Amino acid sequence: MKNNRVLITGGAGFIGVAVAKLLVAEGCSVLLFDNLSAQIHGAIPDMSALQSLPRTQVDVMRGDVARDADWTAALENVQTVVHLAAETGTAQSMYEISRYTEINAGGTARLLDHLANHRHDVRKIVLASSRSVYGEGAYRCRRCGPVYPPTRGEDMLRRGEWQPRCPGCKNTIEATATSEAAKTAPASVYAATKLAQEHLVRVAAQALGIPAIIYRFQNVYGEGQSLKNPYTGILSIFSNQLRLGKTIQLYEDGEESRDFVHVSDVARAVGLAITSDSAEGTTLNVGSGQPTSVREIALLLADRFGVRTPPVISGQYRLGDVRHGYADLTSLRACLQFTPLISLDEGLTRFVEWVKTQPEEPDRLDRATRELVARGLMPGHLSADIAHETSGTADAILNKNVRDDLQDESPDQRAAYAQSKRASV
Ligand SMILES: NC(=O)c1ccc[n+]([C@@H]2O[C@H](COP(=O)([O-])OP(=O)(O)OC[C@H]3O[C@@H](n4cnc5c(N)ncnc54)[C@H](O)[C@@H]3O)[C@@H](O)[C@H]2O)c1
Ligand SMILES: [Zn+2]
Repeated sequence: MKNNRVLITGGAGFIGVAVAKLLVAEGCSVLLFDNLSAQIHGAIPDMSALQSLPRTQVDVMRGDVARDADWTAALENVQTVVHLAAETGTAQSMYEISRYTEINAGGTARLLDHLANHRHDVRKIVLASSRSVYGEGAYRCRRCGPVYPPTRGEDMLRRGEWQPRCPGCKNTIEATATSEAAKTAPASVYAATKLAQEHLVRVAAQALGIPAIIYRFQNVYGEGQSLKNPYTGILSIFSNQLRLGKTIQLYEDGEESRDFVHVSDVARAVGLAITSDSAEGTTLNVGSGQPTSVREIALLLADRFGVRTPPVISGQYRLGDVRHGYADLTSLRACLQFTPLISLDEGLTRFVEWVKTQPEEPDRLDRATRELVARGLMPGHLSADIAHETSGTADAILNKNVRDDLQDESPDQRAAYAQSKRASV
């Protein structure tokens, strides 16, 4: 890994910092290119996660993947690009469509444009894609065999029919591990932008003769994940609520499931993609390979925080949410001899111990919920509070959200936040 300067876009983010730690331990020099987005890092970015990195091997550049000039500066003397920078809120993407597209797809296009049109030393690209490109993913029907049901419609969800049915015979079906050969069917704008990133990298990198590896991450969790961002990261959201003594409210019936993979396993997979040439040109799942229900995760977390109040079913659901999904890791194992090492039990313990060392964050989930309700994206039964607060116009609701955010912050942070809000509108 020596003599390899790695550009990590989104390098100050959750996965970026974990990847940077691993790469510097292996002798790389890294450049972290990040706009330090206020939604993720707070109005005044907390850089403490970066302070543990050795200054001699790490440079930090504040810049935006949606700005050409920033790419010119970032790509100087770089051999490897790990492209992580993205907006990642699935539900938020449904009403910030052009912003998500400009940053996720547009940012990737600018990277590739730069590589196509300027002199550079880049010899490899690793792209962070997402399991969301599959939509519902793979199921098995006893009569029809492997099937890929479409995203559940509002009519189904309204009736509380949470489980997708066989698209052929309409019978009940069982979730199975989703392999990379599964058809892609994004159910959110976020997922559509991740698939667009994949296509852009696949086509352009091949034409440019730059080896590329595309990883589809499952739900990544662990020490360092943003506790401020209410738009993504179920473990952070639940942890904040548990610390504040709030009861966790589960969507649907709580039995929807996800594949939770610890961030250190994801960082190892990225490290391997850089050192090995056997995954070049491939698209691979990275996950734990195990499904865990959201109710189970809530219980495991509550137990670690010493909370005895059980989670409750809220009666809410979100349009575009998938019911189940977990990774088939056969190709990842075959290509890179990679297996995840951190069990859910160990990973959750490590995560909760870390959360306990962090300042308590206000629960901003209501804020995210109000935005969804205002736009008709969360049509289920609502708590009295939210129902009352969302009776106004979308603008009034957003103004209330800004007021709520400002209450959380100090006067300095308020000024910086107001500034960043204006910049992002
Ligand atoms: N965490 C997960 O569960 C997960 C799952 C699947 C895929 N991914 C993908 O992995 C990547 C990293 O995710 P993460 O969990 O570390 O998210 P994160 O939000 O912690 O990090 C993303 C980083 O990108 C930065 N960023 C955002 N917009 C930017 C811009 N315009 N210019 C420069 N930097 C910008 C943010 O400031 C942040 O530091 C993303 O591409 C995401 O889609 C993550
Ligand atoms: Zn069938």
